[in-house]
Amino acid sequence: MVERPLEMRRITDGVFWAGAADWDRRLFDALIPLPNGTSYNAYVIKGSDKTALIDSVDPTKTEVLLARLSGVERLDYIVSQHSEQDHSGAIPAVMERYPDAKVVATPKGKELLSMHTSVPGERISTVADGETLELGGKTLEFLHTPWVHWPETMCTYLREDRILFSCDLFGAHLATDELEERDENLVALASKRYYAEVMMPFRAIIRKHMARFEKYRIDKIAPSHGPIHPNPAFIVKCHDDWTSDRLSNSVMIAYVSMHGSTAKMAEHLAESLTKEGVGARLFNLAATDIGEYAMALVDSATIVIGTPVVLTGAHPAVVPAVFLTNALKPKLRFASILSSYGWGGKAVEQITSMLSGLKLEMLEQVVVKGRPLDKDLAALDALAVSIAAKHKEVVG
Ligand code: FEO
Repeated sequence: MVERPLEMRRITDGVFWAGAADWDRRLFDALIPLPNGTSYNAYVIKGSDKTALIDSVDPTKTEVLLARLSGVERLDYIVSQHSEQDHSGAIPAVMERYPDAKVVATPKGKELLSMHTSVPGERISTVADGETLELGGKTLEFLHTPWVHWPETMCTYLREDRILFSCDLFGAHLATDELEERDENLVALASKRYYAEVMMPFRAIIRKHMARFEKYRIDKIAPSHGPIHPNPAFIVKCHDDWTSDRLSNSVMIAYVSMHGSTAKMAEHLAESLTKEGVGARLFNLAATDIGEYAMALVDSATIVIGTPVVLTGAHPAVVPAVFLTNALKPKLRFASILSSYGWGGKAVEQITSMLSGLKLEMLEQVVVKGRPLDKDLAALDALAVSIAAKHKEVVG
């Protein structure tokens, strides 16, 4: 059998995708589950005078990128929009292939590239916000977009073709054979998961950058992960919703149970909330996909943490989810804690302390000695009434 060589894929005249799909990757940052794999998108822009590569790929896919570039005889610029290794990791190998190529980055990008890769500082040119690079009939305009995802991040606008290369922003961990999205529901779900896990802490900053993009006419958005968006309004509207202050009338109940008491409380509370007209999403943290959990954090108004006391504190399987909740800075407004204990402990104090970065209004807790009795179930009913009343104040 003749092996088919890897090639670049044409997006429009002089603009090509040269990235790599990573179908088998199942974990990112040793934390984030990837049920759909991911992709690392690199793009080649050929002008009449110069050729540029926008970003590279994860180091594990270097050979794929080099193979796709095999038809590119001369590369003048490597635009590094983001120094994180899933985009910068193959730049040293590309520089070795093209010894005259210059790397282009923000000033902060130059610093971070030197820290995280072996790219020599003297081969990196810095660009100011709004600065342009002429390739001959193709003009790249660099837009500094710090904190989407790191402080050095930038996007690139290709003026003539009206394509925004948006780096991690508008991305999705989704391996696909489609260059452009066809199934908007699939892309919306994968993008929401990506937003929840990676971008949510930068919600306010993203809104600021999106407002800036409004003055650009954009025909396509080409992110650094997942498919290209041929209908930018679709993915922009999704992000407009996710980053807005809008809250859903729903409660996340995240719990662990060892012998059924905490589970009984969680399930009873969910029923009570439903009766009060409030949505309830249960997450058994002993088994849940943390990506699903993060997606629920995007717009839930309330979180309830349920934990049995183990030894003298919260169940260890609850702790990472609470820690992550605090780090992701969701819009949550209210919180409560359910706990079952045998002889004492500090679980409630621990969870309260771990959520302290979110400035939540803490509602009444339901703490039970042993199995929940009728009076405890009544306390859960009262908590549901209280949550429903709070939601009426904040949910539009
Ligand atoms: Fe896809 Fe922040 O790297």
